[in-house]
Amino acid sequence: MKIAIFPGDGIGPEVIAEAKRVLEALSLPQLSLFEGDVGGIAYRRHGMPLPQETLEMARAADAALFGAVGDPACDELPREHRPEQAILSLRSELGLFANLRPAAGYPGLEDMSSLKPEVARGIDLLVVRELNGDVYFGEKGERAGEGGREGWDAMSYNETEVRRIAHIGFQAAQKRRKRLTSVDKANVLETSRIWRETVIEVAREYPDVQLDHMYVDNAAMQMVRSPGQFDVILTGNLFGDILSDQASACVGSIGLLASASLGERRTEFGTFGLYEPIHGSAPDIAGEGKANPVAAILSLAMLLRHSLGRESDAGRIERAVAQVVASDVRGADLGGTASTGEIGDAVLGALAAV
Ligand code: NAI
Ligand code: MG
Repeated sequence: MKIAIFPGDGIGPEVIAEAKRVLEALSLPQLSLFEGDVGGIAYRRHGMPLPQETLEMARAADAALFGAVGDPACDELPREHRPEQAILSLRSELGLFANLRPAAGYPGLEDMSSLKPEVARGIDLLVVRELNGDVYFGEKGERAGEGGREGWDAMSYNETEVRRIAHIGFQAAQKRRKRLTSVDKANVLETSRIWRETVIEVAREYPDVQLDHMYVDNAAMQMVRSPGQFDVILTGNLFGDILSDQASACVGSIGLLASASLGERRTEFGTFGLYEPIHGSAPDIAGEGKANPVAAILSLAMLLRHSLGRESDAGRIERAVAQVVASDVRGADLGGTASTGEIGDAVLGALAAV
């Protein structure tokens, strides 16, 4: 089993260090770890945010664990040299088109949700976000216009792209509560009209899943009003990015949510994937030991489940994390004083007992 590890920038290396401790505690047989540079650190060392060597390392691995990229010192660089380009290129180069972002409330954490406790308790949803298309990957540019410089980004989806992510969404719903909400903006966007029509067509293959459609503005409102109504949310790259950050605040902190990015490549043990916290490099707290490593540790659990076929290890990690999250060991993001390392210690302690 080969795992490529890309800590990246800011709090990325801090949270990945804790995930690595958890991985080591599992003592998996025949595990090889490889570490590569991505983001701002890669730009400084190799002159580019995603060096070829890092990409090859990911290609040769069964799974990749990613921290975060982003460095304020690189803000003035042209887009292709910016750290964030590393994650976008990894996702597209590796064909990782399906981003799974689970968000579920923790018993004992309702007080930290931005919602009323009784509302927060009901949240148990999965955002299935398309990751290789939409306005993030469309043509973009700058031109001179009558109103001064004008920036533009093309938003598009074709039926093939929508179909393959829709299948992932429906299959995920089949394993959950069999409800799928497709989120779009079909009242104004052509992209969304194709999206909606294609999702309806794919739905015929999944008669056991109940499909409904929601405009993204309504979905944002419903997410804070009654998130318990959602099971699987199927949506595009931009809307999924925004709605999953929002879901994290409903749960309690962005430091708690993990994600899996999957494609079509099969490995000996499962599907190749790249796993990362949904948060960024958090330069405002980097180097202070204030980052919550739970999202990174839960990303490792997803890696074990989807890419290495180790469901029982994944379940153990998730149970250990749930114990710690419900305990009084809380980081600054959850109103406590525990450091990144102390939260890692607590998860390791709980892991020994679950
Ligand atoms: P961010 O997610 O890094 O931080 C947002 C807020 O949440 C900050 O106040 C931060 O302190 C807090 N936060 C984030 N993770 C936390 C954790 N584990 N524990 C405790 N608090 C946490 O988003 P922001 O500030 O918009 O972006 C910072 C940089 O990260 C930018 O350069 C951005 O482009 C990049 N970014 C990278 C991503 C990636 O690598 N996949 C994803 C999102 C942003
Ligand atoms: Mg985001």
